[in-house]
Amino acid sequence: MKIKTEILLGDCKNVLQKIQDNSIDLIITSPPYADQRKNTYGGINPDKYVKWFLPISKELLRVLKPTGTFVLNIKEKVVNGERSTYVMELIIEMRKQGWMWTEEFIWHKKNCYPGKWPNRFRDAWERLLQFNKEKKFNMYQKEVMVPMGNWAKSRLKNLSETDKIRDNAKNGSGFGKNISNWINRDMAYPSNVLHLATECNNKNHSATFPEELPEWFIKLFTQERDTVLDPFMGSGTTNIVAQRMNRNSIGIDISAEYCKQVKQLLSPSKKVLLQNQTYEKLEYKEHYAVR
Ligand SMILES: C[S@@+](CC[C@H](N)C(=O)[O-])C[C@H]1O[C@@H](n2cnc3c(N)ncnc32)[C@H](O)[C@@H]1O
Repeated sequence: MKIKTEILLGDCKNVLQKIQDNSIDLIITSPPYADQRKNTYGGINPDKYVKWFLPISKELLRVLKPTGTFVLNIKEKVVNGERSTYVMELIIEMRKQGWMWTEEFIWHKKNCYPGKWPNRFRDAWERLLQFNKEKKFNMYQKEVMVPMGNWAKSRLKNLSETDKIRDNAKNGSGFGKNISNWINRDMAYPSNVLHLATECNNKNHSATFPEELPEWFIKLFTQERDTVLDPFMGSGTTNIVAQRMNRNSIGIDISAEYCKQVKQLLSPSKKVLLQNQTYEKLEYKEHYAVR
């Protein structure tokens, strides 16, 4: 069995039209943020961002399988002293387009630059918006479990009476927890905050994903031989990680230079033994800890 990695050059709005309906299991991407990095690969005016992105998200909706997931890394910039609202407007318009806004993960950038601004603190997080086509989608939660850690030792030592029974939420939401269920367990499900350091300057690209970021979502939402798409591929982090994890992938970028660089880093296809989980799994790391 071969794992296929396709690198396609061009504006993803057009290139996406070549991809079959309902053929992608996971889309994970970081488009150019409004007006940022103008000097490197162009920026879109915050007022025009939604209009620019909607034809692209329409194509993404078409190519994603009904069981698939779309993870969009984005963060609104500050314009005239206030946060722009284009991300919120985009979410509203994408819902009208047919997307479900299922969840929002936070990428906490552990190593962001120190600094001082007169009216705000340094920006240490970005949004990872999760969209789906259907309420039921593929999610392999066990793949991203984390060690229980010290929390378990202190919190589970002296359980109160409410801790030992299902503690239903006071607001009548129907949600509840039974903390004693977690006694003697080594692993727990993670939170929706990812604590990852940014990666820069080592890939000839100014805004690369840390490898653990696509890796975490690829583990959570896909299985081996599934297909991952990054329509704003940049230095190809998503595709490089997908290939290592035995997932097929497609990467698109408008820059011929980036496409050339990524092709040099990847093998066009990779043979895989299907009997074994052949990719090297990273050790569980502290930054996935439950908080
Ligand atoms: C934030 S970077 C992506 C970085 C990537 N996540 C990585 O790990 O390297 C955005 C990329 O989108 C590309 N781009 C901008 N407009 C595009 C378009 N319309 N179609 C395809 N690619 C585009 C840029 O060339 C840039 O490489």
